[in-house]
Amino acid sequence: MAERTVIELDTVRKAYPDGTVAVEGLSLAVREHEVLALVGPSGCGKSTTLRMVNRLVEPTSGRILLDGEDVTRADPVQLRRRIGYVIQNVGLFPHRTVESNIATVPGLLGWDRRRTRARVAELLDLVGLPAATYAKRYPNELSGGERQRIGVARALATDPPVLLMDEPFGAVDPEFRRHLQTEFQRIQRETGTTVILVTHDIDEAARLGDRIAVLSRGGHLEQVASPLAVLAHPASERVRDFIGDGSASRMLALARVQAGDLEGADRIVQPAPAPVRLGARLTDAFEAVAALPGSAMGRVPVVGESGDVVGSLTADGILGALRRAADAAASDEGIQDAVVADAAP
Ligand SMILES: Nc1ncnc2c1ncn2[C@@H]1O[C@H](COP(=O)(O)OP(=O)(O)O)[C@@H](O)[C@H]1O
Ligand SMILES: [Mg+2]
Repeated sequence: MAERTVIELDTVRKAYPDGTVAVEGLSLAVREHEVLALVGPSGCGKSTTLRMVNRLVEPTSGRILLDGEDVTRADPVQLRRRIGYVIQNVGLFPHRTVESNIATVPGLLGWDRRRTRARVAELLDLVGLPAATYAKRYPNELSGGERQRIGVARALATDPPVLLMDEPFGAVDPEFRRHLQTEFQRIQRETGTTVILVTHDIDEAARLGDRIAVLSRGGHLEQVASPLAVLAHPASERVRDFIGDGSASRMLALARVQAGDLEGADRIVQPAPAPVRLGARLTDAFEAVAALPGSAMGRVPVVGESGDVVGSLTADGILGALRRAADAAASDEGIQDAVVADAAP
């Protein structure tokens, strides 16, 4: 099935009035229903790129299309109704309550009070801030992380078809960030919202992105590919630098146990250890193998959907699965030479 392009940047350039070229020659297509994680070091032009899409910043040259329509010709107010936006550093209205902040876009769209109130309560629940406690508070009565969660709730209020998120989880403490990421992923899959997620955190990008676009300074696109492909086959030294260490373990968390990775069930030592599921993350399979008693000879049973044992897996098998996943990601992206050895520790 051919994916529809929802947002297209065509050789976009942004030079700020002081002469800073934040973005140059950037071409990028965002597909319908995908989460495109836009990553890169601080100052590389991520926020500028995002802000050009909803016209908070005007491109100096090039074109940006939303559903095929040039956004520079669209009415900015209409545009922002179609695009949810979570701002870096939140940007809540300080003199409005939490409730009224979240209700901003519903208000613009003329929702009635009951519908708005119900939606606000639902969203507050979603981000873990119950309405009874938080609805009437003002932004200065919230912690940084709480403000950020309100920012996420506000952007989701009317289920916009496109969502732009600029480091949305940055100020949230690590434990709750994980929870918000999981919730975000669940909502995104349910609603099919097309998302550009800006982050400088490669782990967040790998976890949430269907594809990752890596920018270097000046808004230069270094690579756009699936998380596995970026990790296994960084397209340039800059991408490699940005990713840093730990590609193999990140890939283990992304790739899944597949039938072709298994060896026979007949080699499992009895009594059989606790099994791994087919489709489990390789990380979980690795944890299971590492936790085996010596008597199990390094082999875990693997069970299918029905719970029946369908084969077995060893540490070698997991490494093979990792290579297989990296090669598959490479061939999906049309990358010729498999260089997974570079990514292994
Ligand atoms: N309003 C502005 N005027 C001048 N330069 C700016 C402005 N906003 C951002 N920049 C510069 O543009 C570059 C890219 O910034 P930004 O898009 O915020 O990067 P990122 O979000 O990747 O950290 C940086 O060098 C930054 O200093
Ligand atoms: Mg930024």
